[in-house]
Amino acid sequence: MEIFTFDDYTSLSIEAAKIVADRVKQKPELVLGLATGSTPLGMYQELVRIYHAGQISFNRATTFNLDEYYPIDRENHQSYYSYMWSNFWSKVDLTEEQFNIPDGSTLDPLQAAKAYEQKIEALGGIDLQVLGIGENGHIGFNEPGASLSANTHLVKLSQETIKANSRFFQEVEEVPKQAITMGIGTIMKAKEIILLAAGQNKAEIIKETLTGTISTQVPASMLQAHPKVIVLLDRGAGKLVNITGS
Ligand code: PGA
Repeated sequence: MEIFTFDDYTSLSIEAAKIVADRVKQKPELVLGLATGSTPLGMYQELVRIYHAGQISFNRATTFNLDEYYPIDRENHQSYYSYMWSNFWSKVDLTEEQFNIPDGSTLDPLQAAKAYEQKIEALGGIDLQVLGIGENGHIGFNEPGASLSANTHLVKLSQETIKANSRFFQEVEEVPKQAITMGIGTIMKAKEIILLAAGQNKAEIIKETLTGTISTQVPASMLQAHPKVIVLLDRGAGKLVNITGS
């Protein structure tokens, strides 16, 4: 695991975008795993900027998002489909055939989850997966207690996550109670992973994730067992860990 801290969120975001851009340049048909949430917003902004500067193209890449609420319509402003569309997909040269996200409005979420996993496998697996982390240690929507080997599946959101995500909804009752998420098994099969965390509210969970025991109670701790993880932190998120590089 390589761990880097940055003075601020902007520098962290630029570095994350640089890693993605490097991998796409090395392998234009990259299979790229993407995340939503506040943390990767700066990375998307930077990727869009360098795309417009002519420094990068996604025209042969395929992307798979980690997760989507269930049930939710893609037109709902809070869907991760809407987030991805407005922050990234529509702003670069990715067409609808190239980007993938679990279908939040399917009538058969179990089958949709299975098909999602199969599609990832059919493309040779994820080359680079971008991850954020929840304050409770979730990655994707793999909440504490999640199986450390599961593939894409339907999950119940924890009360903490529903509460944390209610900041984006008018009422906490509007937050969907379930999600379709890549499992820890899916994530661990990615050939390379970058984990992004910013803000002091992530400091404690980052310490547990990177230095604690691997445990289902901290799903992200499983990343310790992955051979190729780059962790990018801002000063707040990194303040409780000893950093090896920067
Ligand atoms: P955040 O969410 O980037 O909005 O902090 C991360 C997560 O919950 O996975």
